[in-house]
Amino acid sequence: MNVHLTIEGRHGLASQIYRQLRAGILDGRLAPGERLPSTRELATQLGVSRKTTLDVFERLTAEGYLRSRTGEGTFVAATMTRRGNLPTHATALQPADPLWESMPDALPMRQEGVSPQYDFMGGVTEKRLFPFDQWRRCVSHAVRVQARAPAGYRDPAGEPELRLAVSRYLALSRAVVSNWHDVIMTQGAQQALNVLGRVVLRPGDVVAMEDPGYPPARMSFKAAGARVVPVPVDADGIVVSALPADARLIYVTPSHQFPLGMPMSLERRLALLDWAQRRGALIVEDDYDGEFRFEGRPMDSLKSLDHDGVVAYVGTFSKTIFPELRIGYLIPPASLAQALRRAKQTGDWHSCTLTQTALAKFMLDGYFAKHLRRMHKEYAARRAALRRWLDHELSPWLAPLPTSAGIHLVAEIRPNGMKPPDEAAFIARAGAASIGLYGIGGMFAGRPPRAGLLMGYGGLSIEEIDTAMQRLLDTLQGQPALPGAAHLLPNRHTRPGRAAIP
Ligand SMILES: Cc1ncc(COP(=O)(O)O)c(C=O)c1O
Repeated sequence: MNVHLTIEGRHGLASQIYRQLRAGILDGRLAPGERLPSTRELATQLGVSRKTTLDVFERLTAEGYLRSRTGEGTFVAATMTRRGNLPTHATALQPADPLWESMPDALPMRQEGVSPQYDFMGGVTEKRLFPFDQWRRCVSHAVRVQARAPAGYRDPAGEPELRLAVSRYLALSRAVVSNWHDVIMTQGAQQALNVLGRVVLRPGDVVAMEDPGYPPARMSFKAAGARVVPVPVDADGIVVSALPADARLIYVTPSHQFPLGMPMSLERRLALLDWAQRRGALIVEDDYDGEFRFEGRPMDSLKSLDHDGVVAYVGTFSKTIFPELRIGYLIPPASLAQALRRAKQTGDWHSCTLTQTALAKFMLDGYFAKHLRRMHKEYAARRAALRRWLDHELSPWLAPLPTSAGIHLVAEIRPNGMKPPDEAAFIARAGAASIGLYGIGGMFAGRPPRAGLLMGYGGLSIEEIDTAMQRLLDTLQGQPALPGAAHLLPNRHTRPGRAAIP
């Protein structure tokens, strides 16, 4: 036998022998048809009981690795093809479609365990103020519901009570009128964009996207084989007159243009709806943070103006709760509903029922509305704190763009001492003082016409914003960084002495 078996200790003898024999068969050291020693010989050789080797042979035979022939002995099954000499790089055998090889990373992601001490990454929400005690009660409730329910697959569109809660919430807060049947729960807005792309687009179809725009949306449509055409935005939103005539799908962020921040004007909304209706295009409205509007009355969704069934409305709990919850929703035109449910089912059958049931309770018991009210106030104060610095002390270097919503803003880098303004150099200077800043360059389809920063303020308290901006000012004025400002410090959430996150 071409396999050397070793036994370590006196525990799990059968499984040690089983694993080694199985590995020998799979990697070809034991060839198909090769005869194995008898169970008695092997037991003597290894110093184990005959029962142990008998058990191992029986298991390998039952699983199809071995065959025994009465009076002749036990052999490696002939059906086991030789799998030796496998290439170490699986890519040599299974190359990915070049589309995926060339796909950039969507957005910067926080590194596990380390991050700048003051991180202005976009999309980060404040977990220290999330009512985890109430959430825990909702999760416990969901576990009880799960224990009582019969095992089995559920509706791909999601749990009815959560769809009901979302439908009620959207009617009140975003003027989106829907029946709970119309709501499809997804794994974040991202999956909603993904299923829409798969259902609506054929390879080569044209998707019109705001430029600058949300890179993960661009990638999702590209993955569906679409040709993504950038369309400029101005102070009123996407420039409708610049839409490609053959656009099949138009992706927009009307409440809070991503990343620049302006809302789409009413006039532009009506022009866009009219354009889509005349050309038979689908508008995808990504209402990712429409809840947080700090000046004026929140503008109703584009969907609320849609009388022709041309808008697919997409939303998410990533900003109102936190992104890793991975819950979003989609309200499509009725004509697409059935196909979208099937697309969702072919992707993951349905989202996790435990989280859905917990979130439904969280919403129906009023905790979500309370949390939103609290966070609205809190984010307004944080935004004001950041604006104070940008409008005054930091104004020689940075110019914030007008925006009235969301949990991030964009500040243009002025050509102060840097001609032309250099995003990477600015970010590196801030990084040396352990302040995490992120550029908007990668959000343009082509060469960025301006240098700017996307500053997320969702995860930093007012005191943290003040400290970070003072530190940035010192750095820009050429003063040495404060003691302790190493390039990368432990993630502030894991630093000792912080309010513990339950
Ligand atoms: C424009 C836009 N859409 C959607 C999302 C949220 O996506 P998801 O629900 O997949 O987390 C974000 C988050 O940053 C965003 O900026």
